[in-house]
Amino acid sequence: VAGKVLWHVTMSLDGFIAGADDEMDWVFEVDAAPSATAEEMIETMGAILAGRRWYDMVTARYGSREGIYGPKGVYGGRWRGPIFVLTHRPSDVRDDAGVTLLSDGIEEAIATARAAAEGKNVVVFGATIAEQCLEAGLLDEIVVHLAPLLLGDGVRLYGEPGVGRIGLERTALAESGQLTDLRFRVAQPGSSPPATS
Ligand SMILES: NC(=O)c1ccc[n+]([C@@H]2O[C@H](COP(=O)([O-])OP(=O)(O)OC[C@H]3O[C@@H](n4cnc5c(N)ncnc54)[C@H](OP(=O)(O)O)[C@@H]3O)[C@@H](O)[C@H]2O)c1
Repeated sequence: VAGKVLWHVTMSLDGFIAGADDEMDWVFEVDAAPSATAEEMIETMGAILAGRRWYDMVTARYGSREGIYGPKGVYGGRWRGPIFVLTHRPSDVRDDAGVTLLSDGIEEAIATARAAAEGKNVVVFGATIAEQCLEAGLLDEIVVHLAPLLLGDGVRLYGEPGVGRIGLERTALAESGQLTDLRFRVAQPGSSPPATS
């Protein structure tokens, strides 16, 4: 069974996924509760595809092992699996977290992550990778935890002048403490709009 490609992201109410200077501590300060959505993500994900900025940020702040598998790492350190990072600065040196750096186009990178995921889902992190997947028609779903704060500045979820509009269909809505969990199916180019009943 081929897994899906999901974008999993925590976003402030004003649409930022990181604060100024890539600040991410706000994510851990929200009064969250156990989230069925997050649990399902952890259980069904087989690989991660992220961008170099995310990787450099977590490794510079916390060290690669701690930044990825520690309490402030990926899913609070509760997930283990293959992680791929797209970069124009490849290296054969393996870090101590076992991350693989790739310099492929987005199609090839997703194919690599899919093969490693062995039928489970591929989860993409950050804005630039998701945007490339959306452009290439490769993203199946967006899973958002909406955080109750206004960051005012930082890394936007999506969009720059001239970028196209993308249709979505909301498929789930739940609360986990102060977070609102939202799940959307991406309308692929040329597909018919979601049915309304
Ligand atoms: N809120 C959340 O849930 C969440 C989750 C993950 C990350 N984040 C935050 O989001 C921010 C990072 O996101 P971002 O979208 O700005 O950056 P990013 O995707 O992490 O990194 C962008 C960089 O990745 C490399 N890259 C991307 N596509 C490539 C391609 N096709 N080929 C080769 N290299 C490629 C390039 O780096 P080089 O050219 O330098 O190699 C590019 O500058 C960070 O602040 C991170 O903490 C938030």
